[in-house]
Amino acid sequence: MSEQKLSGEVFYPSKEVIEKANAKCRHLYESAEKDFLGFWETEANELHWFKKWDNVLDDSKKPLYKWFTKGMTNIAYNCLDVHLNNARRNKLAFIWEGERGEFRSYSYFALHRETNKFANVLRSLGVKKGDRVTIYMGRVPELAIAMLACARIGAIHSVVYGGFSVEALHERLEDSQSKVLIVADGAYQRGKIVELKKIADEALQRAATVESVLVVKRTGHEIVMQPGRDMWYHELMHLPIAHSDDSVEKMDAEDPLFLLYTSGTTGKPKAIMHTHGGYMVGTYTTLKYVFDIHEQDRYWCAADPGWITGHSYIVYGPLLNGATSFMYEGAPTHPYPNRWWQMIEKYGINILYTAPTAIRGLMKFGEAWPNRHNLSSLRLLGSVGEPINPEAWRWYHKVIGNEKCPIMDTWWQTETGSFMITPLPCTPLKPGSGTKPFPGIKADVVNEEGKSVKPNEEGYLVIKTPWPSMLRTIWNDPERYVKQYWNRFPGMYMTGDSAKKDEDGYFWIIGRVDDVIKVSGYRLGTAEIESALVSHPSVAEAAAIGLPHEIKGNAIYAYVILRTGYEKSEKLIEELRLHVGHEVGPIAKPEKIEIVESLPKTRSGKIMRRVLKAKALGQDPGNLSTLEE
Ligand code: WT7
Repeated sequence: MSEQKLSGEVFYPSKEVIEKANAKCRHLYESAEKDFLGFWETEANELHWFKKWDNVLDDSKKPLYKWFTKGMTNIAYNCLDVHLNNARRNKLAFIWEGERGEFRSYSYFALHRETNKFANVLRSLGVKKGDRVTIYMGRVPELAIAMLACARIGAIHSVVYGGFSVEALHERLEDSQSKVLIVADGAYQRGKIVELKKIADEALQRAATVESVLVVKRTGHEIVMQPGRDMWYHELMHLPIAHSDDSVEKMDAEDPLFLLYTSGTTGKPKAIMHTHGGYMVGTYTTLKYVFDIHEQDRYWCAADPGWITGHSYIVYGPLLNGATSFMYEGAPTHPYPNRWWQMIEKYGINILYTAPTAIRGLMKFGEAWPNRHNLSSLRLLGSVGEPINPEAWRWYHKVIGNEKCPIMDTWWQTETGSFMITPLPCTPLKPGSGTKPFPGIKADVVNEEGKSVKPNEEGYLVIKTPWPSMLRTIWNDPERYVKQYWNRFPGMYMTGDSAKKDEDGYFWIIGRVDDVIKVSGYRLGTAEIESALVSHPSVAEAAAIGLPHEIKGNAIYAYVILRTGYEKSEKLIEELRLHVGHEVGPIAKPEKIEIVESLPKTRSGKIMRRVLKAKALGQDPGNLSTLEE
């Protein structure tokens, strides 16, 4: 690949990087091209199965694809137990640093022990295969332990990001009908305590199915424990019951592993469902090849386990690969903007995977902060969540990577489970492009009719072949799954993104084509923000849009029509911002709220957000023929 002449700004990987790489580039693409089922099967064979599959792929009921049919496995067994009989037994699985500087680490042996104990605790509370368990915590090791313990006993975890608030948590508890909630008393963020338990108590007043609440002590500040419902994690872990058993539930490859809620075009967040078998094969394979995990590496994915990036690339992918994964609790700039660089030096991190918004946020403080630290341990860098602007890419490459670390710009989604469009370490890079589909993945850019567009023409990004870690359904709404992802272009998975493909076949993601806003890489729906606003007594109607923002990528702007009897004031606007923060979470707080008399609508009453956006940007709103007035 490297001898090919490419157009534009291109960075070729060094010989050292190519030679070291697990992925022998051309070979990998070619073998997957020839036989993509064979490619995935070879990867699956590297993992442990209690019983092997009948078929790699069952596509008899498209788009209800099944992978590794009749195979029996357990992802948690592959994350932990398989490492106990070799040199990895004493290897560090997790290294953790708290925002206030505390330090903890877990060997594979210890992580297995803690997970097994907690699995027994869950069993003793009556949690069975198929039951849903919601997890709501900051970035602490117990979050990973709770996820793995659920997987071990076949319960389905639903992690709710610790930055979400009352209504967001309530909705997710209710929709998943969770039996147990695992929560931390609080979390540290920028030196302050986020009152997770208090938020949970409020959400629980609205949610009826939760029988037990297990509380991890993180901050130790005063909280209210409700007798009969609330129990301390550390107390339960000391009971003899925690040592009662060390069995693992044998799971069908297609059994659900987790639900993860994400925002879509309309209404409530939807629960994306992933499975034990295919998801395991996808996360294992992609991390191994893209981030080129080697035995002695220390790998850091700085995302939050509450989002898919953390599920796949803090918890499951690294553990499946027997890697040492670093986890940091707090904010990148606390107490100073060198916090991350300090930890890279201190722990000798080899691979750093983060989001463009974090890079831009750190870039703002200048080169002096990273330059004060020895970052020479870094070998590979990664980016995810939104398109990375070339300026941030070059800074990351030069200042953090010392011009020797390739940047893996990985395009994927909650729905895809693992990387879809991404370079391998041996791929020539173009700043701002995720380069090419991962081996075994077929992506394309198509027009309204579903036909491939010409090079450099904008169109819809689609995936043309199934892949093991694909979502299987939307929990509670299987019809929406088919409608939303597969009906627009028959036979193709519709990503919701627009993109271009250049003359070298490199993909350039432009952004969402639906009503999803990416704020600091977080995925939010305009509908969630609008319904939070409308739930305030003063608001009759609301519309939310995303406008470009230097650090966050996009910022939320909201337009609100007041109910009669309410007066426009700065105080009310601030109250509305706080209300959205309280209901959805601080990340959803609009940057600006404008009180207006009317909103542009179609004749059928749909808000025309593109008109609001064009107006805010001083652009031509385009075709207005459907506008009501
Ligand atoms: C959306 C999915 C999957 C990890 C975190 C996001 C955008 C994601 C990239 C990238 C350009 C990207 C897309 C996608 N996105 N990665 N490397 N370049 N855009 O998961 O919250 O499900 O969001 O994030 O718009 O559709 P998510």
